[in-house]
Amino acid sequence: MDGERTKLTAREIVTRKGGAKLTMLAVYDYPFARLVEAAGLELILVGDSLGMVVLGYDTPVPVTVDDVIYHCRAVVRGAPKTHVVADMPYLSYHLSDEQALTNAGRLIQEGGADAVKLEGGRTIAARIRRLVDAGIPVMGHIGLTPQLAGGSFGVQGQDVSSALGIIADARAVADAGAYAMVVEAVPAELGKLITEAVVIPTIGIAAGPDCDGQTLVSTDLLGIESKLFLNFAKRYAELGGDIQTAFTSYLNEVRGGQFPGPEHSFAMPEETMQALQSALNRG
Ligand code: KIV
Repeated sequence: MDGERTKLTAREIVTRKGGAKLTMLAVYDYPFARLVEAAGLELILVGDSLGMVVLGYDTPVPVTVDDVIYHCRAVVRGAPKTHVVADMPYLSYHLSDEQALTNAGRLIQEGGADAVKLEGGRTIAARIRRLVDAGIPVMGHIGLTPQLAGGSFGVQGQDVSSALGIIADARAVADAGAYAMVVEAVPAELGKLITEAVVIPTIGIAAGPDCDGQTLVSTDLLGIESKLFLNFAKRYAELGGDIQTAFTSYLNEVRGGQFPGPEHSFAMPEETMQALQSALNRG
């Protein structure tokens, strides 16, 4: 692990606009966070995808602020030098500025996150401004917004009117003071136009190569299937199959008597064993 490395601040992330690509992954626990930090990625998202990836829900909707805090604390312990963004769950910021401030504050203070992420564009811009004015770094999220997608995760912005709408969303989020934004599931050409339209970094997921950074859900990248499996994601490993093979080998070896072997067991000294046998025989 890089001893000199320091955590990027939101301000430093803004300066990466147009520069070296930012890398972010959605992870949810201590061991994965450690591995992401050791690999050198700059950002971790404790995404509400955790509802589908870790908790087995069909959508992110049931995820609570407490769920995100719980996972965020583990991630922060594993990746103390990585900028950690906590997702604000469904309906945790829609009711009022006060509700949004309270919940964003909890994610920062109790969860240890460096920033929060909110889904939505023009409709949520005033709320982003309110959080930013209170000193809370906000990452936006436009294009496909899974909390509002009703479980259908299709490509957005495929006609002129909806593409223009997403560009307007991007501008509204940037003007409201967000320091970066996720752009999800738009054609690559639109990802480029959005990136050119705003002064803050765009972090794409299925939004083409021209965004200022990229993000993926870690289990997709690792080939571990869950209730969420985004088929556009590149699989850099097939760990789901490898893990299942390991579990099956364990089962077979336990049943077949190959595990545990002597190297996995503690031995009792011969004289202790003899004394124990004598004691048992006397009793
Ligand atoms: O919840 C999540 O993991 C996300 C990513 C898909 C960007 O929002």
